[in-house]
Amino acid sequence: MSTRAEAGIPEELRSRASFMPYDFFTPQPVRGADVYLFHWIFHGWSDEYGVRILRSQIPALKKGARILINEWCLPEPGGMVDGMRALCGESLLSTSTENLTRCRSTMDLLMLTVVNSNERDLDMWRELFNKADPNFAFLGASQPEGCRMWTIETVWDQDKEFSEKDALPGALF
Ligand SMILES: C[S@@+](CC[C@H](N)C(=O)[O-])C[C@H]1O[C@@H](n2cnc3c(N)ncnc32)[C@H](O)[C@@H]1O
Repeated sequence: MSTRAEAGIPEELRSRASFMPYDFFTPQPVRGADVYLFHWIFHGWSDEYGVRILRSQIPALKKGARILINEWCLPEPGGMVDGMRALCGESLLSTSTENLTRCRSTMDLLMLTVVNSNERDLDMWRELFNKADPNFAFLGASQPEGCRMWTIETVWDQDKEFSEKDALPGALF
């Protein structure tokens, strides 16, 4: 597994990356990191399991450690058109509001029927972290320009020192 994964890393970055197996329902073995990044993981799991994944990270977390989730953050109904265009890309720039609404519902239903899960909007992401542990301070979600993905951000904050102003630039609340 490692050899195949390592082969995908540009030569100049190879010395800075290493790979290891990890079952995310077990305690996180890498302790004291600044950031834990999950790419396309949580949308495949309902809140019950998402909470278990988050709680598995807690023993490893130092104060100020970030958990970054790189996935979709569904737009609010009022922001449906722009949000869905960003989500689905240039091909939807001329698509009607009705079609964009269907597209959102379709993705949600797909996750429900295939893996009994769902996509999440900002409130649902916040709720997931709240359910996992009150010491996760939710910092919002941001979408880099030109990117279809959002970064959903939280920080381990037992001393209640962090607030939304500590989020990555451009975060939504
Ligand atoms: C949607 S894929 C995303 C893979 C990768 N992060 C990416 O973005 O290309 C979900 C991944 O979670 C892995 N997975 C499922 N259960 C897991 C577990 N308990 N611990 C660690 N990984 C798991 C699957 O093998 C699959 O590779």
